Amino acid sequence: MRFITSLCLLLSVCRAILVPGPTGPYAVALKEQPLTDTSRPDPFDPTGKSKSRRLLVSLYLPVDASRRLCPAVKVPYMTPPVAASYGHQATQVGLPDTLYYPFEMEFCDLEKFSPCGQASNKKNEYPLVIFDPGFGESRLIYGAMARSLASHGYVVVTVDHPFDAPAVRTDDIIFIINQLTNSTITNPLLADFPGTINTSHLAIWGHSFGGCTAASVLHADNRVLGGLDLDCMLINPVLSTGISKPFIPRRPQGPQHRGSVMK
Ligand SMILES: *[C@@H]1O[C@H](CO)[C@@H](O)[C@H](O)[C@H]1NC(C)=O
Ligand SMILES: *[C@@H]1O[C@H](CO)[C@@H](O)[C@H](O)[C@H]1NC(C)=O
Repeated sequence: MRFITSLCLLLSVCRAILVPGPTGPYAVALKEQPLTDTSRPDPFDPTGKSKSRRLLVSLYLPVDASRRLCPAVKVPYMTPPVAASYGHQATQVGLPDTLYYPFEMEFCDLEKFSPCGQASNKKNEYPLVIFDPGFGESRLIYGAMARSLASHGYVVVTVDHPFDAPAVRTDDIIFIINQLTNSTITNPLLADFPGTINTSHLAIWGHSFGGCTAASVLHADNRVLGGLDLDCMLINPVLSTGISKPFIPRRPQGPQHRGSVMK
């Protein structure tokens, strides 16, 4: 935060820009959680020393604020390193490299909403939707979209794939599903969340290569009921075997592709 402030003073360009609120009836809380898969070394860690694959997820949690207003907390849209990385891309189309720094989003402050750290209302059950980003993209760039879906009553989980590679993605997501269905992990993580995740209502959606991952996870994991793909060219094994569960490809795939996927 201090870094952003001094950068703003230096460049005199930053005034906080609040991303407009989400469209649904629920307030949305945000949590971030590192997850470590001790069963898999990280094959792409450049130091070559990693014994475990480490992942980072954001959870967008719907909060029923119809009876009691949820106190708001403002959060920078991206961390400074991620904003710097996307800022560098922005300069390639003539936009300033500070483009992403001023953006903020408002969330429900669970610490103030559930002041003793324990939520009273665990009765509200929400389906779980996992979002997988495009290749090499940060989960943070999709924050507004994730928050928007959560505001309609879904727990939305966005994922980073460190040292991104097609080979790790499906296993990353299956590991994350294992964690989110394990009460040893979720009970402390969601203690102050006034609701529960119904993990038997689980769908996955993804952008670009994340859409391909969505198809691949849907194919590989029985717990996932359906999926949606934003702009992926589907690849094998999904392309040859098809998927027997509901899957919406958002890119015209050509007749041969569409037939095999939707069968
Ligand atoms: C749940 O997570 C704990 C802590 O990581 C682990 O010890 C346990 O084996 C996991 N349970 C299942 C069913 O995977
Ligand atoms: C989740 O949804 C299923 C199917 O609708 C239901 O049977 C189950 O009781 C729900 N709750 C939990 C905690 O799984």
